[in-house]
Formats: sequence, structure tokens, C-alpha cells
Amino acid sequence: MSDLSDMTTLVVGASRGLGRGIALAFDEAGAPVVAVARSRPALDEVAAVSKNIQVEAADATDATMAWNLMDRHKPAVLIIVAGANPVMRSIQHQTWETFSANWHTDVKIAFTWLREALLQPMPPGSRVVVVSSGAAINGSPASGGYAGAKATQRFIAAYAQEESRRSGLDISVTAVMPRMTPFGDVGKRGIRAYSARSGQSEQDFLYQLGQVVTPELAGSALVDLVCEDSTTIAPGYLLTGAGLQKAA
Ligand SMILES: NC(=O)c1ccc[n+]([C@@H]2O[C@H](COP(=O)([O-])OP(=O)(O)OC[C@H]3O[C@@H](n4cnc5c(N)ncnc54)[C@H](OP(=O)(O)O)[C@@H]3O)[C@@H](O)[C@H]2O)c1
Repeated sequence: MSDLSDMTTLVVGASRGLGRGIALAFDEAGAPVVAVARSRPALDEVAAVSKNIQVEAADATDATMAWNLMDRHKPAVLIIVAGANPVMRSIQHQTWETFSANWHTDVKIAFTWLREALLQPMPPGSRVVVVSSGAAINGSPASGGYAGAKATQRFIAAYAQEESRRSGLDISVTAVMPRMTPFGDVGKRGIRAYSARSGQSEQDFLYQLGQVVTPELAGSALVDLVCEDSTTIAPGYLLTGAGLQKAA
């Protein structure tokens, strides 16, 4: 599949950071794009790039909103990127509320939209990508419940894939786990916290990360992934500056 002109792509969390890059890449590849986020002014800047980008200001944790937007736009591609910026503190300095923040956003958003993808259901041949995190594999001791929440996103993407198979829906669901990057607010906070924790400058810490994931790279990697034959798609991928690699 390489012609995306009839593949409406709904990107949840598209106003800035990696999600913005992903929305712009799908637009560039010819897909009609629906960009979802809460901040209307930031969305309007995304919409100004192309007449093929529609925007929807909505809280993606709201199940009614998810139903409504999926029903109205009937996307063939759903990219779930939105998530909260974790409070960067070691475990003993977290409160239960700060620790669980990503469960109430990232996990809830993935759960809500995956559920909707299966229940509508999306048309046969549809693609769903959940943007989790490399922290789902490596852990992240300075961000409370973040890594566990991202691991749960990966699990529920696999559960949704299995339910699609069991029901013969032909919806392909996969998780993409990007490495920390300064090109999104989540990564910026992580780099600040982990450089301080290791006694390094942010610049030195960044240098040791090597080639980082940019929003443009994330966007082109996801376009390529969605264009792949669904039979070759793996349950999960790592995303680094070198691109996508199948996760073990
Ligand atoms: N940056 C990294 O280094 C990195 C690494 C690994 C994984 N990730 C994951 O990649 C995703 C994007 O990260 P990022 O750094 O690009 O984040 P970001 O810069 O903070 O952008 C997050 C996007 O999600 C939207 N969003 C957040 N909560 C939302 C809600 N309740 N409803 C609708 N939209 C919502 C935000 O817009 P509004 O605030 O206007 O709603 C924004 O468009 C996250 O899931 C993150 O965990 C990031």
C-alpha cells in the first residue's frame, strides 16, 4: 500500500512534538489527516500547513469524544500518540497522584481509542499504531509510573491485535517505542532529569544518545510502517535515530 489518498489518518496528540511530525508526514504522503489535541491555537498552526489537515480540539481521554470523532471521520489509519508529561522525580518523591498520572492519560487514551477501533469497527485493512516508549522496555526510575504505563500501552495494543484476529476484523495494531528525544516535551523533561541525575550537562547527555528521533523521522517511519504489507508487521518496534527495528 503506498497510495494514502483514501486513507483518512486520525492522529491523537498532533498539536506538537512527535505527534505533530507524524500528522505532517501523513499529510505529505497524501493522506487526509485529522489532527486531535486539546489546544486549539496549536492545532490551528498545524492546520495552516495544509488544506488536507482538519483539526479537532478534544480531550482524548473522553470516551464520548473518541466515539464521536471515530464515527464522524471513519479513519483507516489511527495513530495514538497523546500522553502526559511525567513528573520527573525519584520514587520516594512521587505522590500516588504524580506516580499514576500517565495511567490516567496515556493508558486511558490508548484503552479508549483501541476499544473504539474494535467496536466501531474500523474497516478491514485499517492500521492502528500506538506510540509507547523505549521506557516500556528499559524502565525509567526517575519518572514514577511512566514506564509501567507505556508497557501497558504495548500490552493492550497486542490485546487489541488479538481481538481483531479473533473477530476476523483485519485491523492491524502495533506499538512503536521511541527512544528519548529533545524534540518533544516528554523527552525534554527526561533529558533534563537524567542529565542532572548522572551529573552531566544536558549537552553531554544528549551527545551520548547519538542520533536522535526527530518529529520528521518519526513521521516518515510511521508512514513507511503503515504502507507495509500487514502480514509483515510486528507487534512492536523500537524507534531510534536509525529508524524502526522490530522489538524482541
Ligand atoms: N519525546 C520523547 O522523548 C518520547 C520518547 C518516547 C516516547 N514518547 C511518547 O511519545 C508521545 C509524544 O511525546 P512528545 O514528547 O511529543 O509529547 P508532547 O510534546 O508533550 O506532545 C503531546 C501531544 O499530545 C497532546 N495531548 C496530551 N494530552 C492530551 C489529551 N488528554 N487529549 C488530547 N491530546 C492530548 C498534546 O496536545 P494538548 O496538550 O494541546 O492536548 C500534544 O499534541 C507520548 O506518548 C510520549 O510518552 C516520547
